[in-house]
Amino acid sequence: MDVVRQILLVLHIIGIGSLLGGFLTQMKGMKTGDVRVVPAMTHGALTMLVTGIALVGVLQADDVEVDNTKISVKLAVLIAILLMVWANRAKDRVGTQVFGAIGLLTVANIAIAVMWT
Ligand code: HEM
Repeated sequence: MDVVRQILLVLHIIGIGSLLGGFLTQMKGMKTGDVRVVPAMTHGALTMLVTGIALVGVLQADDVEVDNTKISVKLAVLIAILLMVWANRAKDRVGTQVFGAIGLLTVANIAIAVMWT
């Protein structure tokens, strides 16, 4: 099971790269309001959800203790990100406040993942 967990973790991190990377490519336009949700962000957010839930399943199947509070917070933050990304994915322009919130919440979830012990 450990190799499955490792593969899922690699995919989980690729998901972060896609979500945050997509955000960073658009960040320059925040000054002028010319920003949009690119497909990399939608795909990255969905990848985070699928791999995150699968990781919890694999860890629990291996009887590894999972911090349910931390996972719940990460899940809630990701759902907020997903709702914003999904609702705006077909628009030519996204409000800079909504767009900034997507980036901020993504970074917050990275900090929660790494710093919450
Ligand atoms: C934007 C959303 C997310 C980000 C940025 C993120 C980030 C990370 C990072 C950086 C790690 C590696 C560090 C660590 O092991 O703690 C990690 C691991 C993990 N994440 Fe996420 N995550 C997100 C969403 C989720 C969600 C929604 C779930 C579950 C529903 C989840 C479940 C997990 C689990 C179980 C691990 C630990 C894997 C292990 O110990 O082998 N993540 N996440």
